[in-house]
Amino acid sequence: MESVQAIKQRFGIIGNTPALNRAIEKAIQVAPTDISVLVTGESGVGKESIPKIIHQLSHRKHNKYIAVNCGAIPEGTIDSELFGHEKGAFTGATQTRSGYFEEADGGTIFLDEVGELPLTTQVRLLRVLENGEFLKVGSSKVQKTNVRIVAATNVNMFEAIQKEKFREDLFYRLSTVDINLPPLRERQEDIHLLFRKFASDFALKYKMPTVKLSENAVQLLVKYHWSGNIRQLRNIAEQLSVLEQNRTVSAETLRNYLPTTGNNLPAVIKQTKAESDFSSEREILYKVLFDMKSDLNDLKKLTMELMKNGNTKDVEKNNESLIQKIYGNDTDDDIEFEEHSNDNTFLSIPEHTSTPIIEEAVNDKYHFAEEIEEEETLSLQDKELELIKKSLERHSGKRKLAAAELGISERTLYRKIKQYDL
Ligand SMILES: Nc1ncnc2c1ncn2[C@@H]1O[C@H](COP(=O)(O)OP(=O)(O)OP(=O)(O)O)[C@@H](O)[C@H]1O
Ligand SMILES: [Mg+2]
Repeated sequence: MESVQAIKQRFGIIGNTPALNRAIEKAIQVAPTDISVLVTGESGVGKESIPKIIHQLSHRKHNKYIAVNCGAIPEGTIDSELFGHEKGAFTGATQTRSGYFEEADGGTIFLDEVGELPLTTQVRLLRVLENGEFLKVGSSKVQKTNVRIVAATNVNMFEAIQKEKFREDLFYRLSTVDINLPPLRERQEDIHLLFRKFASDFALKYKMPTVKLSENAVQLLVKYHWSGNIRQLRNIAEQLSVLEQNRTVSAETLRNYLPTTGNNLPAVIKQTKAESDFSSEREILYKVLFDMKSDLNDLKKLTMELMKNGNTKDVEKNNESLIQKIYGNDTDDDIEFEEHSNDNTFLSIPEHTSTPIIEEAVNDKYHFAEEIEEEETLSLQDKELELIKKSLERHSGKRKLAAAELGISERTLYRKIKQYDL
């Protein structure tokens, strides 16, 4: 059995708090079984690595691993996404389609944000968990599948059960084993370690010297509340790495980056989004310029190789990692894990679209939930389309700038442009 330390290294997990080690140890122990696991913990604590560990250490590792963000798929399409549909089941169902439960037969499905599943979907899920049976939407033919389920949630499931938003029987079925990840504020000895790791990653990414913290700044960092946990720490390390000219950051400077709002995460996100991402054109341009400079250097290297060695195949072989780095996003056919969470999601729609809004990736459930509540005449697609159009207009069709502004990858933007026929 692989040791906890080896697993941490393999999955890039930083930290040595006993509670973190215990969580990883539990994942290692349950991996070879088919027991359902519920991963719990606040937003940004690193829940997503647990199902990956479980899948990779299980006998299912050669079959599919599918991650589904239940909070980001619209209620109307989630059953069809998960269980597939029959041709003609609903308007637009022009062909029979298999769902994730069929595709992942023999493998693992990670149901992220499971607390967001609609009640009707919960009934279908319970049936699969109980006897492996499911029906495609619009079909009466019972199908069988053999899928291991790992679910995750950052909401209080007992509260959800009490409010009748989540079925109690399903909850017990899903949480045969509970793996809890502690919030960052309870892992104080890991905070500086994590910061150093992120700072060194970003130094490499942006080709700049690594930012360091003064002693007082370290104290401030360790005592901070971190309601957005490791995700928030990573964001702040990125901002400091990109924006601070003085590479040794004082407590005073660091304070400017730490939101002083309450402990409530959605509130923090809402009020500090401008700070926690790139809020002005200048900052976006910095980011784009750094990326472009790095791409240019890589391309120079590659061109030089091609000039020296006319044999394209050899150059391709000897520069595999460089090619992957430059074109990786465009050709990642062989990625290890299938992530389906973005397939049916939308850009977060800002309340005021007149100013550039930089948002997290599209599966940010807080924003998503808020938008659903806002009953507006335009559909989400219409709004997203409008947002993309405006951004492209603002940047005279320059996709790199538009993607940075929208907070999505160029590849996702390209997909959206094709999807909307822009
Ligand atoms: N121990 C760790 N070491 C290094 N990076 C980590 C660690 N834990 C989390 N991260 C990083 O922090 C970010 C947030 O982690 P993750 O997406 O797993 O959070 P989460 O618990 O799923 O949050 P949410 O409930 O909001 O989905 C990711 O970029 C992840 O790689
Ligand atoms: Mg997550």
